[in-house]
Amino acid sequence: MIRLEHLGIAVKDLKTSNELFKKLLGKPHYKIEEVESEHVKTSFFQIGESKIELLEATSPDSAIAKYLEKNREGIHHVAFEVDDIKVAMELASSLGFKVLNEEPKRGADNKLVCFLHPKTTNGVLVEFCQSIK
Ligand code: CO
Repeated sequence: MIRLEHLGIAVKDLKTSNELFKKLLGKPHYKIEEVESEHVKTSFFQIGESKIELLEATSPDSAIAKYLEKNREGIHHVAFEVDDIKVAMELASSLGFKVLNEEPKRGADNKLVCFLHPKTTNGVLVEFCQSIK
C-alpha cells in the first residue's frame, strides 16, 4: 500500500507561515516538532487523511536552508507512506531511482524516512515514510 502522507513546504519563518496556513485551512497546526539531526523545525496540519508539513531551517547546515538559498519558499517534497520502508527503498533502487540515504533515518512525526533524488523522479524530491510503531 502507498498513500500520500504529506506535502513538505519549505518556509523562512515558521511562526508567520503557521498563521498563514491557519488562515488558509481554517484550522491551526496540531504540532510543532524540532528534528535536531536534520536541523529543522516542523509544524503539521491535518487535511483529511493527509498532512501539510511546514519546514523551517534551524541552522545554515540544514537542507532547508540550502534549498532556500536557491529557491523560493514553496513545495519542497512529496511524502508517501509505505508499509515497509526498507522494502520500498530496495524496490525503488532496483527500478533505477536514486535513494539518497543508505538506511532509513528518523524523521518528524514518529516516522522512519528516506528520500529519492529528484533527478530520477521528474524533479520531485520524494520522501518515503513509515510510522514507527
Ligand atoms: Co516530510
